[in-house]
Amino acid sequence: MNIIVETDRLIIREFEEDDVLSLYKIESNPRIIEFIPWNKLSTLKDCRRQINKFMNGYKRYKLNSWAVVEKETNNVIGVTQLVYSDKIKGVEIGTKILPEYWSMGYASELSKAVVHYGLYELGIDEITAVTDIRNAGAIKSLINMGMKLKRYGYYKGTESAFYSLKKQTINSF
Ligand SMILES: CC(C)(COP(=O)(O)OP(=O)(O)OC[C@H]1O[C@@H](n2cnc3c(N)ncnc32)[C@H](O)[C@@H]1OP(=O)(O)O)[C@@H](O)C(=O)NCCC(=O)NCCS
Repeated sequence: MNIIVETDRLIIREFEEDDVLSLYKIESNPRIIEFIPWNKLSTLKDCRRQINKFMNGYKRYKLNSWAVVEKETNNVIGVTQLVYSDKIKGVEIGTKILPEYWSMGYASELSKAVVHYGLYELGIDEITAVTDIRNAGAIKSLINMGMKLKRYGYYKGTESAFYSLKKQTINSF
């Protein structure tokens, strides 16, 4: 198991071949993709292919998608990623958590650790999160973990809020 970061309750680790069903459960959940309609992983085959891409990517890139594991149960409860986005010309964080684990503070907890990893381990200057303005859970979790609202604008056809965090603004981590 290759761990990227760890928090009190969660492990963020690289995806493994055995995670196909877990990824499928996440990516095919209608509540998860409500505000991310461009999701394309709708079959087990798609998920298997995607996990292979993630696993190959680990050898070449620092930015990737990782499995979110609840320590207490060892269940994969979500996905989080740091990706370069052409649209924002920078690095973006994105997170998906299974609905049965919502409102337990998990997204806030892991985003803080993943952003810290990006800024201080990978040396990224600024990390952005873009969310549909109707996505109350995402907005709250971004505010909780210390992100600042930068602007509103359109992103992939939806009215979105752009949050970000720069290296110098989180010296208190
Ligand atoms: C957005 C998401 C990652 C938040 O995960 P989470 O683990 O529930 O986040 P947190 O527990 O840290 O919640 C943050 C806050 O939002 C609240 N919240 C969570 N889901 C909510 C919802 N659907 N509606 C309103 N508030 C919500 C929580 O109660 C919590 O409030 P608090 O700070 O007062 O305690 C999760 O809802 C999700 O996976 N959504 C689908 C995928 C998605 O939209 N990802 C974001 C793309 S930008």
